[in-house]
Amino acid sequence: MRIGVVGTGRMGAAMASRLLTLGHEVTVWNRTVEKTRPLAQAGAIVAATPRELVGQIEFAISMLADAQAIDTVYNGPQGLLSGDAAGKLFIEMSTVRPENQKALAAKVRAKGGAMVECPVGGTVFPAKEGKLFGFAGGEAADVARAKPILDQLCRRVEHVGPIGSGASMKLAINLPLLVFWQSFGEALSLCASIGLDPARLIDIFSDTSGGPNFLKVRGSVIAGTLQGKDAGPVTFNVDFVRKDLQTMLAEAKSLGVELPVSARALECFDQAAREGHGGEDSAMLPATWLKRARSRT
Ligand SMILES: NC(=O)c1ccc[n+]([C@@H]2O[C@H](COP(=O)([O-])OP(=O)(O)OC[C@H]3O[C@@H](n4cnc5c(N)ncnc54)[C@H](OP(=O)(O)O)[C@@H]3O)[C@@H](O)[C@H]2O)c1
Repeated sequence: MRIGVVGTGRMGAAMASRLLTLGHEVTVWNRTVEKTRPLAQAGAIVAATPRELVGQIEFAISMLADAQAIDTVYNGPQGLLSGDAAGKLFIEMSTVRPENQKALAAKVRAKGGAMVECPVGGTVFPAKEGKLFGFAGGEAADVARAKPILDQLCRRVEHVGPIGSGASMKLAINLPLLVFWQSFGEALSLCASIGLDPARLIDIFSDTSGGPNFLKVRGSVIAGTLQGKDAGPVTFNVDFVRKDLQTMLAEAKSLGVELPVSARALECFDQAAREGHGGEDSAMLPATWLKRARSRT
């Protein structure tokens, strides 16, 4: 298939690389062109603009930072929708609010295209391996059209409803995970005085109901971070955690519901960003809380 990927950041590049290894003809575009170089070396075509890209593909995947990036990439003067969008299927996979996806789908439809949203659970490694969890929203026929591609990127795709439902579901599943980072840091402060080795701490947590599934998957990286080692390549940084929590809180406000734990967790992540940790992996947050507690014992 001829597939375009716009936004070759951490996640977009991993997905484009997966599609290339499966033999698709992949055209990529990224604002910072340097990030497309490894993909070009692996066989991707690099488009000069999103407008140029849309003329070369049947399906366009977008994986962008936030709603502002989506607006620029789709609606800008050289944007996807300024090109030949008629008959094309756009698969929008960024983590944004439902209202952003609904507004975008209306614009895509007005240009004769179709759109499915499919934000994902899982990070860079699962994206490279085709093991994400996709929350698809859209018309049944459009989701069916996107499914063969989504199935190559995801271990599981759930069609959860019309456009906007996927975004609601993605924000919901991310909430306990993001709040966990803060609660885990606080939990570590309570047992810091015991002085257990971080690898043993993680092993204990991940074998009890105090630890979520991802401690089993990323436990060794987190233990390394707690030991003060380099966590390796950043997968999901503190600034993205803040963006997601801000998005959840804005969505909750529009729904008239309160998220008091999320609001407090955001304040803690904001503090970490003020201390210069914004670009670091979110795994560092519990490490700073453990360090703080140890310095007081
Ligand atoms: N990382 C994860 O583990 C993960 C997991 C699930 C979902 N997500 C979601 O996936 C999306 C991408 O995350 P990521 O980790 O891949 O982030 P990233 O590495 O920072 O990539 C962000 C992408 O958005 C582009 N972008 C940002 N602002 C732009 C603008 N104004 N105009 C055009 N392009 C713009 C960036 O272009 P440049 O390269 O030029 O900056 C880059 O291609 C986010 O919505 C995130 O919440 C991430």
